[in-house]
Amino acid sequence: MNCRLPEAGDKHILMAYVQEHVDNGEKSISASMGLNSTDYAAWLEKIQHNASVGDEAWGRSLLYLCFDQKKLVGLLSIRYELPQELKNQYGDIGYGVRPSERNKGYATRMLQYGLEVCKEKGMDQVILGCYQENGASVRVIEKSGGVLINENENRTEGRKSLYYRIGL
Ligand SMILES: CC(C)(COP(=O)(O)OP(=O)(O)OC[C@H]1O[C@@H](n2cnc3c(N)ncnc32)[C@H](O)[C@@H]1OP(=O)(O)O)[C@@H](O)C(=O)NCCC(=O)NCCS
Repeated sequence: MNCRLPEAGDKHILMAYVQEHVDNGEKSISASMGLNSTDYAAWLEKIQHNASVGDEAWGRSLLYLCFDQKKLVGLLSIRYELPQELKNQYGDIGYGVRPSERNKGYATRMLQYGLEVCKEKGMDQVILGCYQENGASVRVIEKSGGVLINENENRTEGRKSLYYRIGL
């Protein structure tokens, strides 16, 4: 697997990635930073800006396209400069794998890659959040050494969020 930032020439593969989620009945694309609701050129500019200058509230972040051979299998978002409040709410790392490539170990490898990047950036721990009902993500985090540190219930949505810490 190899991971890199998106480029102008990736429009076609990213649109196919989005379409596969839509065809699978999924409205949101995890870790995509709004790819399905923004014009590609504007989206790419935002991603490149976030990687270089950084967002005022979120700091610098990296959005990696993760490939196996030449196939885009998933997206990995590494928000390595988050202020504590956003860290506690969203977590430092987000990921998603395209429906046809799930349960093949990609998210586990992507998270491992993200942890290495965070370590290189000088972090000594990361926070990860996911919904309790998302059994696959819970499993990915726990397999990667995540320790449960917090839970909260969103009463409006009726869903429980779990927060984990992984030491680096
Ligand atoms: C969550 C997600 C990223 C996992 O990606 P993946 O590449 O399938 O993950 P992996 O193959 O590395 O590991 C999945 C693990 O969960 C297990 N699993 C799958 N579905 C499960 C379920 N419903 N309940 C419990 N465990 C489950 C698998 O068996 C595997 O564990 P194992 O290696 O011990 O067998 C993927 O399902 C996805 O993209 N979902 C939609 C977006 C999303 O939820 N992103 C995360 C937001 S926090």
